[in-house]
Amino acid sequence: MDGCTGLAGPEDLRSYLDFLESRGLLKRVKAEVDPVLEIPEILRRIMYRRLGAVLFENVKGHPGYRVAGNIFCDIEVVRKALGVERLEDIGWRLFEPLRGPPPLGLGEKVRSLKDVLTMGKYMPRRAGRAKFTENVLEGSEASLTKLPAFKVWPKDGGRYLTYALVHVRDPVEGVMNMGVYRVMIAGDREGVVHWQIHKRGMQAEQDAREKGENRVPAALVIGSDPGTLLTGAMPVPYPIDKHLFAGVVRGSGLPVYRLPNGVDVPANAEIVLEGYIDLEDLRQEGPYGDHFGYYDRPNRLFPTFRLERIWHRSDPIYYGSVTGKPPLEDVVIGKFAERIFLPAIQTLLPEVVDLHLPPHGVFQGMAFVSIKKRYPGHGKKVLLALMGLGQLSLTKILVVVDRDIDVQDINQVIWAVSSHVDPQRDVLVVPYSHADELDPSTPTPRYGSKLGIDATRKLPEEYGGKEWPEEVEPDPAVAEMVERRWREYGLP
Ligand SMILES: Cc1cc2nc3c(=O)[nH]c(=O)nc-3n(C[C@H](O)[C@H](O)[C@H](O)COP(=O)(O)O)c2cc1C
Repeated sequence: MDGCTGLAGPEDLRSYLDFLESRGLLKRVKAEVDPVLEIPEILRRIMYRRLGAVLFENVKGHPGYRVAGNIFCDIEVVRKALGVERLEDIGWRLFEPLRGPPPLGLGEKVRSLKDVLTMGKYMPRRAGRAKFTENVLEGSEASLTKLPAFKVWPKDGGRYLTYALVHVRDPVEGVMNMGVYRVMIAGDREGVVHWQIHKRGMQAEQDAREKGENRVPAALVIGSDPGTLLTGAMPVPYPIDKHLFAGVVRGSGLPVYRLPNGVDVPANAEIVLEGYIDLEDLRQEGPYGDHFGYYDRPNRLFPTFRLERIWHRSDPIYYGSVTGKPPLEDVVIGKFAERIFLPAIQTLLPEVVDLHLPPHGVFQGMAFVSIKKRYPGHGKKVLLALMGLGQLSLTKILVVVDRDIDVQDINQVIWAVSSHVDPQRDVLVVPYSHADELDPSTPTPRYGSKLGIDATRKLPEEYGGKEWPEEVEPDPAVAEMVERRWREYGLP
């Protein structure tokens, strides 16, 4: 724990692994294992059996490197590591100061200053030193093949960095972005960066091209504290600086180190690959066995990352994630996004009560949302809003229900859909719109249809002018008596 900065959780990857181990959630594997197919297969089986995180201490072909996997094995563990009572509290750190009546009197104004100062503590801090500067590899010494990158599935197009925080500075606003985009190793000093069309990395690529630039300084960062690693996979709206957002997630500003190429990276990184994105060298990427459990077929060209320098801590720990049919680690990361962005969604759409991205829907497949319904057509209004909101807009199937339905319980949602939906009236199909780049069901990648289901109870205007049927309720006196006499009945 970092006493000086007020960081509530582990300060880097290795202290996070200690945190997991102290709770019996880390297995150490001492047998020699191969990052090509073998480690990914072990990680998937461990995840399906819910056995926690793993540290591989003897990695074939990569002496000196240890490999961590499944570090985000469970959402409760993530919550504890981040030191919050509810993950939503992280999102409220940004929006809480805007809630409630504004301060009018002097005393209230002074008290509200506390909120402003709290925001300041999330800002990134310049670190003069970083442990990864202990080892620098340059020239022919610097090769991506040194890293214990995984081959995740047999027909993958190569070995992949599967959880690198791909850092680029935004060409327009100058803010830092770090996105988790897989990178296919294409040579000693070349990797192909799979940033999808809807993501900020791709936006930076397009903006750089518009400015006539053909290379963008970049860094691929492997291993950091849990909050920073998770932030890389969060759909933080542009142009919020992702290092700033990492500070919000961690509850404390991220120490950043400026590389010679001008890119700021987390000072607590295990491995940093410094270089640039070559926008003139576009290459085929894939196939790759992705989150849905299908191989993505190469369908467009992606830019090349050119490595200039490798920095790493002594005794570096490499972290990689694996994909495949759910539920794997990625769905826990999706759950994290769902929880921490709920306050942002509620700020924009105050009628939203709760949200659930069911794990087997692999975050972009399906979402259930409950609302406090107030007027005719309100369910469809929320469906339309979410279909255009940030990365939630990539969701293929959305179901909206009333606030008494617990969307975390899929059976309650099924009940609402089954008993409240008249398909002709309540189903919205949006043909030919933007679609998740990985969705295997659309013949034209990135372009497909969406389904919205309004499973709220209908108001008279939506129900042929009639009152919605009355729902059964037990007689209160009988219900109270049954509860009281429960043990008398000899029931468990
Ligand atoms: C394990 C894992 C791998 C991912 N791989 C990719 C990828 O290859 N390309 C991509 O665009 N998004 C990928 N994502 C999703 C992005 O990380 C996510 O959409 C994030 O919001 C991207 O950052 P951005 O919003 O700053 O663009 C992956 C997420 C996870 C958890």
